[in-house]
Amino acid sequence: MGTLALESNLFLSPLAGYTNLPFRLVIREVGGVDLCTTDLVNARSLLEQNPKALKLIETNDDDRPLAVQLFGGVPEEMRDAALYLESIGISAIDINMGCPVRKVVKTGGGSAMMTELDKTQNLVRGMVDALKIPVSAKMRLGWDDDNITAPDLARALEDAGVAAIFVHGRTRAQGFEGTVKLSGIRQVVEAVNSVPVVGNGDITSPEAAKHMFEETGCAGVSVGRGAFYNPWIFKHTQHFIESGELLPEPTFEERIHVLRRHYDLMIKIFGENRGSIMFRKVAPWYAKRFGPTKPFNKAIVQISTREDFERVLNGYIEWRERFTDSNGKLLPQYELTPMVASFMNEPESAVEKRKAIPVPKGPVEVW
Ligand SMILES: Cc1cc2nc3c(=O)[nH]c(=O)nc-3n(C[C@H](O)[C@H](O)[C@H](O)COP(=O)(O)O)c2cc1C
Repeated sequence: MGTLALESNLFLSPLAGYTNLPFRLVIREVGGVDLCTTDLVNARSLLEQNPKALKLIETNDDDRPLAVQLFGGVPEEMRDAALYLESIGISAIDINMGCPVRKVVKTGGGSAMMTELDKTQNLVRGMVDALKIPVSAKMRLGWDDDNITAPDLARALEDAGVAAIFVHGRTRAQGFEGTVKLSGIRQVVEAVNSVPVVGNGDITSPEAAKHMFEETGCAGVSVGRGAFYNPWIFKHTQHFIESGELLPEPTFEERIHVLRRHYDLMIKIFGENRGSIMFRKVAPWYAKRFGPTKPFNKAIVQISTREDFERVLNGYIEWRERFTDSNGKLLPQYELTPMVASFMNEPESAVEKRKAIPVPKGPVEVW
């Protein structure tokens, strides 16, 4: 990616509220990923050294290479925030061009950028010219179906010197509804000369990642929510693409091991009380692949201390035993159906069972 040599073409997508240092460290420890990106950060807040913005860019030596995602519509602020990040050792800058949330769009950033090609190109050129580290852009296919601007925007940004383009295969109007359009991502791949295009959207399995590579010709894929369910997705995808072999889904014990590690890092970095409270919204994502979880989901959203965490988790592990056989495997009637991406051809039985990947509640519902 520009001057950055990466060891994997699989990327962790920015997820505001989730892709903080503890989560990135967990994902890196499991493996298969190299460049990870922070939550989106307001360029102006960073220049003002706003404590919240500084917490969003918190990192350490194990969290490398790291891209910080910036948003904002003022070229000088975007450039200066990026220069600051470069000066503190950040590996790359990603520019948010996909966010439809009003707070972001009113700054002239986020998905507003997809509608004004010249202005966006100039802003990006100003950043690329000032920086030594690579600059990438993350966009959706366009504002809506009548305004599919991603191919033109990608071309304009390639001219401006971006090192990579990340594209979520939905429009801003789609929110998270409907299917990810692989043909839309392919159009972006075909629009540019040589800049790597990274496809994104709904990848929840190694097969889905491979399918996206094959159908779009993209140079890499980026996974967001799929990494919540399955922090192993990068490692398993790498293995599948290299060897054709699908590794078995992680066992319950492996999932619990990683969940514990995530919790430990959360309280180490955010403190016991805040880390526990933040973990309330993280744990239910892991739990989606545990089988029956009712009492766990009810109790975990009330934890405030490590003691609460241990009590809830240990109580749940014991409660869950009634749904398993003597080897600890879920009894057939409780087994989970495999996750299938929206863009995969599914067998009919799976279509009936398939649920869209949930989107956490809050202002990001329409990301
Ligand atoms: C909770 C949440 C927060 C998100 N935050 C950001 C963000 O800060 N910056 C960004 O560019 N995209 C953000 N996105 C979009 C994701 O990066 C990604 O493009 C989208 O979720 C589709 O990929 P996925 O299906 O693999 O999750 C967010 C999505 C979700 C669900």
